[in-house]
Amino acid sequence: MDLAAFQHLRGERGADVLAAVAEHGTSADGLIGTINALRRSYPGDVVAAAVTQVRLRERARPKFGADADVMFFTPDGVEQATRTSVARHRATRLRRHEPARLLDLCCGIGGDLIALARAGIAVTGVELDPLTVEVARANLQALGVDATVQCADAESTDLEGWPAAFCDPARRGSGRRIFDPRAYSPAIDVVWRMADQVPLAAAKLGPGIPHELVPGGVEAEWVSDSGAVKEATLWFGALATTPRRATVLPSGDTLTDSGLGAPSVGAPGRWLYEPDGAVIRAHLVGEVAARIEGRLLDASIAYMSTDSLVSTPFARAYEVTDVMPFSLKRLRALLRERGVGRLTVKKRGSAIDPAMLRRALRLSGSEEATVVLTRVAGAPTALICRPAPSP
Ligand SMILES: C[S@@+](CC[C@H](N)C(=O)[O-])C[C@H]1O[C@@H](n2cnc3c(N)ncnc32)[C@H](O)[C@@H]1O
Repeated sequence: MDLAAFQHLRGERGADVLAAVAEHGTSADGLIGTINALRRSYPGDVVAAAVTQVRLRERARPKFGADADVMFFTPDGVEQATRTSVARHRATRLRRHEPARLLDLCCGIGGDLIALARAGIAVTGVELDPLTVEVARANLQALGVDATVQCADAESTDLEGWPAAFCDPARRGSGRRIFDPRAYSPAIDVVWRMADQVPLAAAKLGPGIPHELVPGGVEAEWVSDSGAVKEATLWFGALATTPRRATVLPSGDTLTDSGLGAPSVGAPGRWLYEPDGAVIRAHLVGEVAARIEGRLLDASIAYMSTDSLVSTPFARAYEVTDVMPFSLKRLRALLRERGVGRLTVKKRGSAIDPAMLRRALRLSGSEEATVVLTRVAGAPTALICRPAPSP
């Protein structure tokens, strides 16, 4: 979709053709019919742009909920945008410092921009790509959100006098996700310059950011939503409160290192815990183990265990029914005896491929189970489990 097609879409007939595409549907079997029907009334490029847009809205719904139905997207914009839950969490944290105004460097289609403005912050977005700028402006208008967007290069944006800034560099190049922050666009130097010049500064980076890249005195907060780790936010200056933090959404429970000491290592008890991804990324597994008075099954693996069930928002609990040294034959015999047909395979510290294991087990039956493949005191072990009852 180019700028001209997008502008058509935003014109008077754009809303009609978008509504018509949404009504006809964009499923693979119905698509040709939809396009042919609409081409009788609308220009071909506008119909094509509308089909793209309706499909992007469908992809955006898990991130933006009902807002997605009136928003506009680019393919990269959907992938890179911060989901509402995470953006709202960050905006709330920034809002507590009552910045008079805030610069959102690399604002994309406006995920963070919208949340910042809705939190009551006077925000200006900066975006290099002209189409993305128009999409962000369209989103502000569609949602009735008050903010401005400038088409400019974050690398040369004058930061003088800004009390607060946020930067979310692109983590994609040629359609692929970039893991090395030094390859971000713009380069990570923009983040360091912002942190030097702006009193309240924060940046969103990928969750795989190496800990050694986080400068001293800066807080790194790993955030997960519904159990999936989404990103790391760096908080600079007065915004930094602790070196490392894990926050789990939607509850907003947050964990820092309170120096409770290294957890013990011991045999599996009745309950097994799988820490949230944000906890693992933040290297706070020991903190959770200490809080639940649990022990690690292996000093280098993020599974822990207790004898009594302890509820924690930072780990998922399972009831362990069987523990055995790993053997395909024994595992198959046990699962067949229990009538297990549906098996969830979880693993840490095991080289076994779950898909190959499932094929090799050739299970059939109406029961369900979870098998955890890991090491216990260094030995390959299988733990048969079921999810613990919700607290
Ligand atoms: C990760 S996305 C931002 C997502 C945004 N926070 C959101 O929630 O929608 C990064 C954006 O930075 C833009 N960008 C890349 N280089 C830039 C630069 N030098 N100046 C300004 N924007 C840039 C990209 O076009 C892309 O839209």
